[in-house]
Amino acid sequence: MARERIVTANEAPEFDDQAGNALRPQRLEDYIGQRELVERLRIALEAVRERGEPMEHVLLHGPPGLGKTTLAHIIASEMGSRAYVTSGPALTKASDLVGMLTKLSAKDVLFIDEIHRLPAAVEEYIYPAMEDFKVDFTVDSGMHAKVVTLRLKPFTLIGATTRAGLLTQPLRSRFGIAHHLEFYEQPDLVSILVRAARHLSMRNASGEIFDAVAARARGTPRVALRLLRRVRDFAQVRAEGKLVASTVDAAMRLESVDALGLDDLDRKYLRTIRDVYEGGPVGLDAIAATMGDDSDTLEDLVEPYLLRMGFVARTRQGRKLTTAGGEYLASA
Ligand code: ADE
Repeated sequence: MARERIVTANEAPEFDDQAGNALRPQRLEDYIGQRELVERLRIALEAVRERGEPMEHVLLHGPPGLGKTTLAHIIASEMGSRAYVTSGPALTKASDLVGMLTKLSAKDVLFIDEIHRLPAAVEEYIYPAMEDFKVDFTVDSGMHAKVVTLRLKPFTLIGATTRAGLLTQPLRSRFGIAHHLEFYEQPDLVSILVRAARHLSMRNASGEIFDAVAARARGTPRVALRLLRRVRDFAQVRAEGKLVASTVDAAMRLESVDALGLDDLDRKYLRTIRDVYEGGPVGLDAIAATMGDDSDTLEDLVEPYLLRMGFVARTRQGRKLTTAGGEYLASA
């Protein structure tokens, strides 16, 4: 790719380190969208707080950028505890996991992103930790080998994954709450943007820019907030600070993001299916090889939104360009 993709839902350091954290809601009542999930969490939180127990283990699955990490932080703050953040691939050895687990105080949250990439040898240690708040490990070997049990504080594991299907059944079954996060509807994205604009000193923004940005955000708050920052920059440097719809259009044209939020990579993916594979069906690996891209990237960051738009269909035989997808390309 010639440049970083602006509509990707992948985390960017810009977003996480700078104003990203300040923009994150701290309490469940400030969290916008995902109403069913929020209600399930609200009930569980109230119930465990009344009983003086730690929060249930929670599994969150769905496309990136929809707020899984944010929810882990919110759950910790609602429990009056802390959240520790790690990821499946970062926990390469059992001792990495045990090291994290023994740091936790009662009711703390351990957030494991990409939990489907937890190595099998590490996953085994998580079962008794989740179930009985203990880890068993073997010291020494041969006839001297003995199992030592380490007691843990009652904690909450929050697992996040873009691929719930890759989780093993024993792991999946140990979560008390499992929920699929959905793409956000336009009004919710607008609310998120309005809230963010207050933190970004964009008080002169006209309402129309929020609609224009939200329409291009692919149902994803992380994308919406990133686009909003690019619009703010563009307005400041090229449009005399005018935060109006035409500024959004100009800023987005510069980023090759069209009115539906699709960018060059999306169009390249659709054109590959149409032009190289005659509309499909074609396997994802073949598309990825033709494009010179990674199939995981396509599956996590390109396909979910195109599927939701109805521009591609996933069939048993592979991916197919739909009529709507063909019409989109013809006008793109
Ligand atoms: N910022 C990012 N996602 C959010 C959400 N779902 N609610 C409120 N603020 C957000």
